[in-house]
Amino acid sequence: MHLAPRDTQAFRGNFTYRNSRKAIERFPFPFPEDDYRYSVNIEPHRLPGPKGSVYEHMLDIDEHYLSETAERDMVLMQDPGRCLAMPHMEPACWDLVEFVMSCYAKDYPEHFSFERQGDECLWENRPLKIQQRFRFGDPASLPLPPMEYIGRQMQGDFALLDQRHGDLFMDAGVITSPADWSLAFDAGMSFKQWHGPVPLAHEMGVFERALKYLCAIQAGGPVRRLNWTMTIHPRMDSSPETYHEWGRDRTTITPDNVGKDVFLRVELQTLVRMPRSHALFFGIRTYLISLDDLVTNQVWARRLHRVLKGLPQALVDYKGLSRYRGTLVEWLSQYDDDVEPREYS
Ligand code: HEM
Repeated sequence: MHLAPRDTQAFRGNFTYRNSRKAIERFPFPFPEDDYRYSVNIEPHRLPGPKGSVYEHMLDIDEHYLSETAERDMVLMQDPGRCLAMPHMEPACWDLVEFVMSCYAKDYPEHFSFERQGDECLWENRPLKIQQRFRFGDPASLPLPPMEYIGRQMQGDFALLDQRHGDLFMDAGVITSPADWSLAFDAGMSFKQWHGPVPLAHEMGVFERALKYLCAIQAGGPVRRLNWTMTIHPRMDSSPETYHEWGRDRTTITPDNVGKDVFLRVELQTLVRMPRSHALFFGIRTYLISLDDLVTNQVWARRLHRVLKGLPQALVDYKGLSRYRGTLVEWLSQYDDDVEPREYS
């Protein structure tokens, strides 16, 4: 089942973003248990995944494709620094061009095609009405630098990590919808440096083990993990650079607007070794769901209640939930009695 790209909706202003019933059903709910703690929750990205799920293809595209690429254009217009590629990442940028074009064309042939003969390439992106001939490896044959060119046509953020001395460095990427972090700030940092602000996980050895795992990823052996937080309104761009626009929203949550205004924000993160440059692709596909939509699934509603109730204070503070966790937990308690919940149908 493919979700067709839908008309443009807004992740800002009047927030016209909506999920269809299908998008709600395939939402990657991230909690396998009633308790949530940080862990090395990495698993092989086995393909194809279950049909219609967000795991079916290497790079998931859904009904928000057009809205998200339009949102990216707006962010980049206001702040070109959200796209950054250090000069030594040029080979990785070309790896990325080939990777994304090949995946999109193979998995969504009704929307994309990619033909390559030697270095001569023809790319077609029908939803965005783009047809482009170019010479692979020749930046002059594209209207934009290669990473930015394809990055503007991708759904989801990504970083390209350079691997050297047994570590990973954030040396390139397009990050226009971060959950409160900044590519410009983290640029050039190592794995443990950019994870510096994360509480508890360093002491638990999570990053030590994760880094070893990531450095050993081979071409053809992609892996994935889910990460989550919460956002007020369906706002994709919750970056430190725009904090003045969204920070105070966290103080506006009441029992009357929780369901409509609070969104669970889940990142499907995929890690893929680029074959020639040996860089690591780190894709971040963000899925947003309002709590009103989430509680249509009784199993999810009950579990989210328990997770939030038991979340360690350090994680509550780090994820920016301190101002409204109480209201949220109280509101969700109506979905959590001791009766076995009905499965979503
Ligand atoms: C948070 C990047 C892989 C675990 C973060 C943050 C960034 C980031 C920028 C926000 C830090 C801040 O507050 O400034 C990346 C990149 C990765 C990667 C580029 C790929 C190389 C992983 C892996 C794990 C992990 C494999 C597995 C354990 C976490 C955790 C958080 C985090 C637990 C805190 C998230 C939260 O509570 O909302 N990551 N990460 N990361 N990362 Fe990673």
